[in-house]
Amino acid sequence: MTSLPRERWATRIGLVLALAGNAIGLGNFLRFPRQAAMNGGGAFLIPYLTCLLLIGIPLLWVELSIGRLGGRNGRGHTAGMFDLLWRHPIAKYIGALGIFIPFAVATYYTYVESWCLAYAVFALRGQYFGLGSVDAMGHFLHGYQGVEQNIHFDGLTWAYGFFALTLLANLWVLSGGVARGIEKLARVAMPLLIVLACVLAVRSLTLDPPAGAGSDQSVAAGLRFIWSPDLGPLTDPTVWLTAAGQILFTLSVGWGIVHCYASYMQPDEDIVTSGIQCAGLNEFVEVILGGTIALVAAVVFFGTAGAMRIAQSGSYDLGFQAMPLVLEQLALPRLFGAAWFSLLFLAGITSSVALLQPLIALLEENFGWPRRRAVAATGIALACAAQPVVLWLGHGYMDQLDFWAGSLGLVIFALVEVIVFGWIFGIDRGWSEINRGARLRIPRAYRTVIRWIMPGMLAAILVAWALERLPDEISLARVEAGDRVYVWLARSYLIALFAAICVLVRRAYREGSNPRSCTPSPHV
Ligand code: PHE
Repeated sequence: MTSLPRERWATRIGLVLALAGNAIGLGNFLRFPRQAAMNGGGAFLIPYLTCLLLIGIPLLWVELSIGRLGGRNGRGHTAGMFDLLWRHPIAKYIGALGIFIPFAVATYYTYVESWCLAYAVFALRGQYFGLGSVDAMGHFLHGYQGVEQNIHFDGLTWAYGFFALTLLANLWVLSGGVARGIEKLARVAMPLLIVLACVLAVRSLTLDPPAGAGSDQSVAAGLRFIWSPDLGPLTDPTVWLTAAGQILFTLSVGWGIVHCYASYMQPDEDIVTSGIQCAGLNEFVEVILGGTIALVAAVVFFGTAGAMRIAQSGSYDLGFQAMPLVLEQLALPRLFGAAWFSLLFLAGITSSVALLQPLIALLEENFGWPRRRAVAATGIALACAAQPVVLWLGHGYMDQLDFWAGSLGLVIFALVEVIVFGWIFGIDRGWSEINRGARLRIPRAYRTVIRWIMPGMLAAILVAWALERLPDEISLARVEAGDRVYVWLARSYLIALFAAICVLVRRAYREGSNPRSCTPSPHV
């Protein structure tokens, strides 16, 4: 309804940094090392890199091209874009997934991001110093999260304080808009992040094993663990599932976010090159830096088996328990501790602003709200939705959101979008859309990848996943009886959120309420 000209990224480098900032997140430093450790180190890399080439990069091109096309037609979110690609009344509701998934994940991602900020301050103050074991660090973390009553914290005051600060920081960036908010943040935060990550990686590579260390506690053992390929687990479907899931998560594909960022591109921006640059930066930071920092440090201090045990015991054990313990024993512990957690916070905030942008785009574009109002409403909704995450952390509430939206949701959305793009919109139009303005020529084999291989692999993953995880998820076999109610509350939240977004989308596209919704055919 607004007739303002569409906002644009100010510079090409700013655009690539913003895309990379969205991709490089907590997943690169916390999720990847954990997945790699749990799936046998080097054994994980082959399926991971295969999925990068056959799913990650082509999907990035597909999403960038859908987004750029959407932007040319005044649409910044996937509900509007799918309505453009496929003239069927249901298309916009499928596209609504690309607003739902990011917001659902933001509900917990911003909270985890706030722990990083808190720990950067704790490191500077030496607050966790002297805790001599991973378990003791665990009590500190659980005290902070309010999962456990102990001497370290009194209630959730700290946790709430840092969460509020994190939320405000996100909203402040977003209220600046795309070029003066998100892009500016990326231009400052990304170089800083890369410097911090390089410093920490070098520090990990020069660690001395602790006194009395076993023969498998060395930098060489750590590098061998992640880099020596092992062909054995290649036949294990769960390793493939995990690898594909990690690729979708880390490259931020299958979310609806890349589309949204791409809608602010120039109409003939080179998306092939931007996509490769974004993926290249993300993989360098994930595999080389993210793989080195926490994994090598953990192997040097705890041995290969110890590192695997720590990774297995919980999502945050490596980052919030093992790493501070290692860094606390080095020279300049405050500085290195603060560097690690600031690195995580920067990685987090450049991603979380992206998670909130699709909903803001919907409110701005289809309801004509000024940006500040859209940002404030999104912030209030997030602050309310996050309450149960904070209060019921120990009851598996967050894990539910992570499973349905942050894992399964991505695969479903990725699958439907490649079908809509490659089959309904059509590979010929799609292919020329991807290649428009590109300096590099993509091998033609990628047409087959987009049309056949990608949907085939995603469908196989979905089926295998459904067979493996759904029975347990549905029967709640792994959930303690006392926690079942929280699991159902989390699921109810997800259903209500999706329904609410569909209602917004419906109102936005009600005949006549939005002139652009009646565009007869996309302005290709
Ligand atoms: N790619 C981010 C990570 O690795 C996760 C994310 C996805 C964040 C999509 C924002 C948007 O942590």
